[in-house]
Amino acid sequence: MADLATPFAVRTAATLRVPDAVKDGPLPLADIAHRCRAEADPLGRVLRFLVHRGMFTEPEHDVFGPNDASEALRSDLDDGPQPWLDLDGAVGRADLAFVELIEQVRGRHPAYPAAFGRSFWEDLAHNPQLSDSFDALMETKTYGIAPLIAVAHDWSAYGRIADVGGGKGVLLAEILRANPKARGILVDLTGPARSAADYLREQGVGDRSEVVTASFFDPLPIQADAVVVCDVLGDWDDEDATRILENCKRAIAPGGRLLIIELLPDRERMALFTEMDLRMMIYVGGRMRDLDRTQQVAEAAGLAVEDFTPLDNGYAIVECRPER
Ligand SMILES: C[S@@+](CC[C@H](N)C(=O)[O-])C[C@H]1O[C@@H](n2cnc3c(N)ncnc32)[C@H](O)[C@@H]1O
Repeated sequence: MADLATPFAVRTAATLRVPDAVKDGPLPLADIAHRCRAEADPLGRVLRFLVHRGMFTEPEHDVFGPNDASEALRSDLDDGPQPWLDLDGAVGRADLAFVELIEQVRGRHPAYPAAFGRSFWEDLAHNPQLSDSFDALMETKTYGIAPLIAVAHDWSAYGRIADVGGGKGVLLAEILRANPKARGILVDLTGPARSAADYLREQGVGDRSEVVTASFFDPLPIQADAVVVCDVLGDWDDEDATRILENCKRAIAPGGRLLIIELLPDRERMALFTEMDLRMMIYVGGRMRDLDRTQQVAEAAGLAVEDFTPLDNGYAIVECRPER
């Protein structure tokens, strides 16, 4: 459990795309190093270590080939793990902040800024490659959950649906496609908002959508019958989550609802939930919440939880109405 060599070796191979390089069969180390733009000697030592941990084969000295474990790390798989492990991408890089876990637990400093000199969100804002990789990961993740969300709630009850912190609009597009009379508003920061207009157009819902570049820490210049915050609150501590919900509440039109969509703990997924909780703490100083704590944050923002719909994938839709 305490070994660090294996995860770092696996991530190094994944980042260099060694599984892609050897996908057609064994290759000499020098060729792999050339294709992966790496130094042959240290790469060979990493690969030999991994062979003895069950990843790659070494049919001859300094010749490495694929096996099932390396194939699972190819970068061209739909929904594969490679982009999450890529040390040059936003999440693989953020995982490196775990070296500061001990200092965060001792209360000395938050992990990510200690590791990288600025917060996760500032890092994304200053680095388009990181920002694009994060948006792409969120997009892939949301493809998996959006169809379930689109059918789990009666969205036809709303004329205008706003997705706040909605990324490039994967969830909003799915909901709008399933509800041809609804209009959509996508709110996010500059980077995701820039991609959202094109994406919503490509999805055939551009004429019913508006993209608004705004921060959810400021009053939102929108009004909607349903305001959605999906996978957003976990990025923030309770105080910030309350501020976000207060701004969302002010954007709800009379009679409207706010829908919080988050992964909630359940007995079968506690390993995933607690891992996500640590990641949120390390990356962004956020936290995962159970239903009680979500309800407390909602109430602090002046919202009453009215309904709760668990989805098959561990997520839930928590429906709130403004209380004051
Ligand atoms: C974890 S992602 C979730 C994206 C999307 N809701 C989904 O489920 O795929 C969090 C989103 O919050 C956005 N975000 C972060 N800070 C924000 C801010 N101050 N105002 C608006 N959006 C923000 C990010 O750009 C990102 O799109």
